[in-house]
Amino acid sequence: MAFIVCCLLAFAFFIDADAQQLQSNISLGSSLTPTTNSSWFSRSGLYAFGFYKQGNDFAVGIVVAGVPQKTVVWTANRDGGLVSDNATLLFTSDGIALNSTQGRILVVASPVSVSSASMLDSGNFVLYNSSREIVWQSFQYPTDTLLPTQALLAGNMLVSPKSETDHSSGIFRLSMQVDGNLVQYPVDAPPIAPYSYFTSFTNGAGSNVSLNLGVDGHVYLLNTTGANIRNLTDGGLPTRGKSYLMRIDADGIFRLYSYDMKKNGNRYY
Ligand SMILES: *[C@@H]1O[C@H](CO)[C@@H](O)[C@H](O)[C@H]1NC(C)=O
Ligand SMILES: *[C@@H]1O[C@H](CO)[C@@H](O)[C@H](O)[C@H]1NC(C)=O
Ligand SMILES: *[C@@H]1O[C@H](CO)[C@@H](O)[C@H](O)[C@H]1NC(C)=O
Ligand SMILES: *[C@@H]1O[C@H](CO)[C@@H](O)[C@H](O)[C@H]1NC(C)=O
Ligand SMILES: *[C@@H]1O[C@H](CO)[C@@H](O)[C@H](O)[C@H]1NC(C)=O
Ligand SMILES: *[C@@H]1O[C@H](CO)[C@@H](O)[C@H](O)[C@H]1NC(C)=O
Ligand SMILES: *[C@@H]1O[C@H](CO)[C@@H](O)[C@H](O)[C@H]1NC(C)=O
Ligand SMILES: *[C@@H]1O[C@H](CO)[C@@H](O)[C@H](O)[C@H]1NC(C)=O
Repeated sequence: MAFIVCCLLAFAFFIDADAQQLQSNISLGSSLTPTTNSSWFSRSGLYAFGFYKQGNDFAVGIVVAGVPQKTVVWTANRDGGLVSDNATLLFTSDGIALNSTQGRILVVASPVSVSSASMLDSGNFVLYNSSREIVWQSFQYPTDTLLPTQALLAGNMLVSPKSETDHSSGIFRLSMQVDGNLVQYPVDAPPIAPYSYFTSFTNGAGSNVSLNLGVDGHVYLLNTTGANIRNLTDGGLPTRGKSYLMRIDADGIFRLYSYDMKKNGNRYY
């Protein structure tokens, strides 16, 4: 019994410390470091943008922070190597600059000058111009994962990670092709049928088919007029206290995952 009480107290403290860092509106000049103030959280605390640990080093990306197994869902400059704990991230009008012993690079390069940024509760990290219009968003540049309400648009692909713990590019790809087909190939193989190991058989459905994930775990393809042309899963899964993500894993298998979210008032932890 004493043990349980102890844990609860420790946990309550943790939530409180965490809550102070929740900041969904990020202003120019804000910075992060790997060990203190390492992330910008979404309002609910479910998602966080910033440094995450990989081995003894750090990468920059977005994690589902509101679950015990802090799942990485996006990585900036995923093949650019890791940095050590003396690196810094700085939000400038050009985007997000990473300064480390390797030098200073823009890991998020904005096409136009930006004024503020936000880690949204959907898991989308966005940059705004001075009229508060979104001019860059992580949802447009998926790595290996799609989140609910995010789409993989025609001409784009997901690339598997190297391993469960190394999020740099691995050896399989899932392509949303401009012929309407959703196809999986080894990463270096040409995009022709003999090399594919999965296809949705929707070629000919138009040049703008997209792969979509609904909040209820529904995985489906839409054509350019927004018509549902293929269901890959039926959806209709519970939405209360649950969320979903899909990812092409290191083994090349495209999987749908569900996870439990624990809510404390309006916040996840
Ligand atoms: C976010 O911050 C910017 C700059 O600090 C400010 O102009 C804007 O009003 C803020 N937006 C919200 C929604 O708080
Ligand atoms: C973290 O950032 C907040 C607000 O940006 C600041 O008030 C605080 O001093 C920072 N903490 C550390 C340890 O740098
Ligand atoms: C940063 O950390 C790396 C690796 O620990 C070290 O080699 C380098 O000297 C450090 N740079 C500074 C300026 O402290
Ligand atoms: C960039 O980081 C290095 C250490 O990695 C540090 O010596 C240098 O002062 C930093 N520069 C800026 C502009 O923060
Ligand atoms: C902000 O971006 C929107 C959409 O691209 C554009 O219409 C608007 O003119 C931009 N505002 C400024 C101040 O650049
Ligand atoms: C492509 O289809 C999506 C819906 O799946 C739609 O939102 C978008 O506007 C379309 N783009 C073009 C260029 O038709
Ligand atoms: C989209 O799919 C619907 C239903 O199959 C079809 O009626 C429509 O013509 C399609 N649109 C395009 C642009 O292919
Ligand atoms: C996909 O499932 C939805 C119901 O979730 C249904 O309305 C739709 O017609 C199905 N689409 C196809 C192409 O079977």
